[in-house]
Parts: sequence; C-alpha cells; structure tokens
Amino acid sequence: MAHITASVYTSHVPAIGAALDHGKTNEPYWQPVFAGYETSKQWMKQNTPDVIFLVYNDHASAFNLDMIPTFALGCAAEFKPADEGWGPRPVPLVKGHSELAAHIAHSVIQDDFDLTIVNRMDVDHGLTVPLSLMFGQPAQWPCPVIPFAVNVVQYPVPSGRRCFALGSAIRKAVELFDEPLDVQIWGTGGMSHQLQGPRAGLINREWDNRFLDRLIAEPEALAATPHIEYVREAGSEGIELVMWLIARGAMNAAPPDVVHRFYHVPASNTAVGHLILENRR
Ligand code: DHB
Ligand code: FE
Repeated sequence: MAHITASVYTSHVPAIGAALDHGKTNEPYWQPVFAGYETSKQWMKQNTPDVIFLVYNDHASAFNLDMIPTFALGCAAEFKPADEGWGPRPVPLVKGHSELAAHIAHSVIQDDFDLTIVNRMDVDHGLTVPLSLMFGQPAQWPCPVIPFAVNVVQYPVPSGRRCFALGSAIRKAVELFDEPLDVQIWGTGGMSHQLQGPRAGLINREWDNRFLDRLIAEPEALAATPHIEYVREAGSEGIELVMWLIARGAMNAAPPDVVHRFYHVPASNTAVGHLILENRR
C-alpha cells in the first residue's frame, strides 16, 4: 500500500523563480528568502518521495474565464512549464504519475468529490516555484509530480472545510493504492498578499503566524475560517492559503512532527511562509 509520509507547505511567487533562474539568490534582497529553504533542501535529499501530489493554483496559464474547474487533477504523463508572458521558465518538464492519478480520481470521485480530470495542462509558477525552492536547479525533477490545480482566482472559491475534507479523501485514496509508494503532499500559495486595488501590498504577519500555529495544532478548527476572513486579513490573494488545508487534511489525525518552519517578509508583494510536517511512523 502507498502512504503519505509528509506534507510540505510553501508560498509561490513568480519573482522567486526569476531570482533563481537569473542567478540572483545571493543578492541581499533574496539571500534571506533562499536561506529559509536550505534545511528543506537537505531534508528533501534524504526524504525524496516516490511521488509528490502537488496542490497549487493556476494563474490563467492553463485555464481562463472560458473554463474554471474548482479541483483539476493532472492525469497526464507529463506537464510543460507554462509561458507566463516572458517565455516558459527554464526548468525541467514535470513528469506525472498517470496510474496513481487515475486511481486517486476513481477513489476520490466515488467519495463524492467532483474532480475535473485533466489530460493536458501546462503548469505555471504556482507549481514550478515550489519545486525550485525544494529541489534547487536539477537537470530533471527527482520524482514524478501529480499536479492538482485549485481555483482560488475566480469566485466562488472552495471553502477551507471542503479542502480539508478533500485532503482526507486523498489520503484514503493513496492508502488504497496497491504499490508501496512514499507520497508527499504539498500545499502551496499564500501567505498574506494583495496584488491589486487600494490595499495592494497588504501583509499581515500576526495573522500569517497564527495560521501556521493553527495549521500545525488545530487544522480542523482552522478549516472553519470563512473565505472572507482570508480576504480581509490576508489580502485578496491570501485566499491561496485554503490549498494548504488540502495537504493538512491528507495527514494522519495524530499530531505531526514539525521538521521545519520559516517565515519571511518580503518576497515581491508576498509574505513567504514554509512548513514541513512529517507523519509519525
Ligand atoms: C505575486 C504573488 C503571487 O502569488 C502571484 O501569483 C503573483 C505575484 C507577487 O508577490 O508578486
Ligand atoms: Fe499566486
């Protein structure tokens, strides 16, 4: 049987990808951001999973207003880095895991979550920046990745409660897969940021850190937070944080081990938050 070993949570910001791709990680502005991922990269080397189930959001790269799936499961064999306006990032092709993805589709849809099956999808910074932060700049990504795109861009967005319950259906599906795979689930996006309007630039350190505390200690209660609180307290793009609840919902009920916790402001317009939680064996 497959099982979920750990969950990784991290912000994504396009400028982080650009800093890496253009060799700027040691510049004074960026050095403290990348320093926060040094422990994580070491841990990843020792704990490379067989597959990553990567929860992220697309930013009008693969989808647009023509079609807005709430939960889109990438079942393809491979996914190309998207052209987000400056050409695709120079990162490796993302290799999928079609067998596990198809199995998860079957199990989770029969468990009453109406996923959209996607057999062709380019992946944007929402997915590639977390991979770069955790793996650096390898010639190939070290394991297959199942992309799971959540709509947090166009209202209505899914509730935290729905995301948390979906995570637990994903854990059940993984545990029903008949191969002994170590699977990590990643929740990405956030933390506080607002990219437009009179409140552009909003950061809320206190709220972000309380979110991290509660994600660790009382995720189910945290999942009851209404979407309007994310928007009010963490900015319009702070709603990306509901995706972290999918990853947290996929963890065991027993308290996890906190391997690493990091928080830094700023990276572009965003507060960077990062956690690694391991299931106890
Ligand atoms: C920024 C953050 C995001 O989450 C995003 O999708 C685009 C830009 C930013 O901080 O610049
Ligand atoms: Fe984003």
